Amino acid sequence: MDNTTPPDPVIELDHIRYAYPGEDPVLRDLSFTLNRGERTGLLAPNGSGKTTLFHVIVGLLPISGGTIRILGRNMESEKDFVWARKKAGLLFQDADDQLFSPTVIDDVAFGPLNMGKTREEALSVSRRVLSFLGLSEFENRITFKLSGGEKKLVSLATILSMEPEVLLLDEPLNGLDQATRTRLTGVLESIDASYIIISHDIDFLLDCTDTIYCLRDGKTEKDTTVHVHSHDHAHMMGHIPHQHK
Ligand SMILES: Nc1ncnc2c1ncn2[C@@H]1O[C@H](COP(=O)(O)OP(=O)(O)OP(=O)(O)O)[C@@H](O)[C@H]1O
Ligand SMILES: [Mg+2]
Repeated sequence: MDNTTPPDPVIELDHIRYAYPGEDPVLRDLSFTLNRGERTGLLAPNGSGKTTLFHVIVGLLPISGGTIRILGRNMESEKDFVWARKKAGLLFQDADDQLFSPTVIDDVAFGPLNMGKTREEALSVSRRVLSFLGLSEFENRITFKLSGGEKKLVSLATILSMEPEVLLLDEPLNGLDQATRTRLTGVLESIDASYIIISHDIDFLLDCTDTIYCLRDGKTEKDTTVHVHSHDHAHMMGHIPHQHK
């Protein structure tokens, strides 16, 4: 983002609190802002509340304290969140939570149809997105018969077809092979959207984001320092000279 451009918040979380019923709070007094154009990573241990945070942002889980603003609008009712979910595309951690239509094209076209596009317009944007992701030949595939990695990519297509202003990607690399990971990195670099990516893969986050946050004790913490370090490791073909990023 240009340093002279004033910040334009797309997601503003102020003193958020969320606890699953009968449990200790997962998110405690969490404040966080994503400005337009920012590409942010979220890297934190299993069970620290990353997925919960995404579900809170789009109103799938009701907060017990704090305020949420999306694109400047206060989230006060389900109607606000219905509006927000059209602007903020959430890629679920588990693709089976995302896909529900019989064929890939039905799933990808569902969002734009739901937003009021005609069938022709919805099919046109869906085909454009499938082509962009290298999935054109998947159009008529049966969704539930896709492999795990294929489902993850099609899930991404269902979000991009809604042309969201902000993306919330929960472990987008899950199930993807190395070539597809590289392709996804290229896709993310070329799209015009602000995003938050949850991933356990630091190399991927260093490639695709400008700032990496951690989630600790229910709060986000910024970590912009790249810690250069060496460590012993072992893997197949390790005897051949090679480099790790
Ligand atoms: N429906 C639920 N009911 C009660 N507790 C839950 C529920 N879903 C998640 N939790 C708990 O909330 C905490 C945060 O879970 P969450 O799924 O947000 O973690 P995460 O950081 O996304 O983890 P991972 O890296 O494994 O995906 C965990 O302790 C989890 O066990
Ligand atoms: Mg998770």
